[in-house]
Amino acid sequence: MFGRERIEYKTPEQVLLMRRAGLVVAEALQVVREAVVPGSTTASLDALAAAVIGDHGAQPSFLGYHGYPATLCISVNDEVVHGIPGERVLQAGDVVSVDCGAIVEGWHGDSAITVVVPGTGELDRLDTELVTTTERALWAGIAALATGDRLGSVGEAVEDLVDEAEAAGLNGGARYGIVQEYVGHGIGTAMHQPPDVLNYRTRDRGQRLRPGLCVAVEPMLVRGSRYTRELDDEWTVVTVDGSRAAHWEHSVAVLADGIWVLTAVDGGAQRLAELGVAVSPLA
Ligand code: MF3
Ligand code: CO
Repeated sequence: MFGRERIEYKTPEQVLLMRRAGLVVAEALQVVREAVVPGSTTASLDALAAAVIGDHGAQPSFLGYHGYPATLCISVNDEVVHGIPGERVLQAGDVVSVDCGAIVEGWHGDSAITVVVPGTGELDRLDTELVTTTERALWAGIAALATGDRLGSVGEAVEDLVDEAEAAGLNGGARYGIVQEYVGHGIGTAMHQPPDVLNYRTRDRGQRLRPGLCVAVEPMLVRGSRYTRELDDEWTVVTVDGSRAAHWEHSVAVLADGIWVLTAVDGGAQRLAELGVAVSPLA
């Protein structure tokens, strides 16, 4: 085996620090989620997240990262990831992905949610299905960190979940696209570390899963073709065909006797129990 990059395996004490960062991110996303209503600007959501992070004495991970200008990435409709908050006003039915990262004592947490802006009308069923399927793909990928043997188990689980959703007739009988240009990543003393965490199958099944591995799992699904392009702002990533996208993400620790979702308040216990996986309580 060759070509594997050096992975920062964490001690249990370091995982506890990462959980503190993860819980700040979870709180920020919870506050933002409640403000995703018609009439909100994406800049106002960014300010809410910045306030929560500041209240905890934490720092935003994204602000200043390669010159990134905001606390959150907010990606609306055909925007997949890395949308920059601004004066855009959200409307009922918009598909809004919110990605947040925070640093506590040098340790990072990173998580994303997607919500359909509620309104009076009936939300587009296929948009709602896109959002729930992507969230289910995230949890299937996370569960694979507990049940699988290698990191490639994550992408296999994501792809299988998407295949099942299509077979069940979701997306109006059309295929979903799984975005390949952006992937999950190791996380710890930096937001992005080796290894990459793919959302699809490959021949190389990746490294063996071992205690201390901390990764961000983050599937991105689209209702049409999986291909993306970057806008002239050099950040915002959109689908080439204009189809809508969803993005969900959690930071997860692999421990000696199981996993713990660092950016979920309950460590992922409830969602993982539905998948037959028990979480490993942190010390
Ligand atoms: N949070 C994103 C990720 O999940 C990265 C954000 S890019 C930044 O990997 F520039 F905004 F920080
Ligand atoms: Co990430």
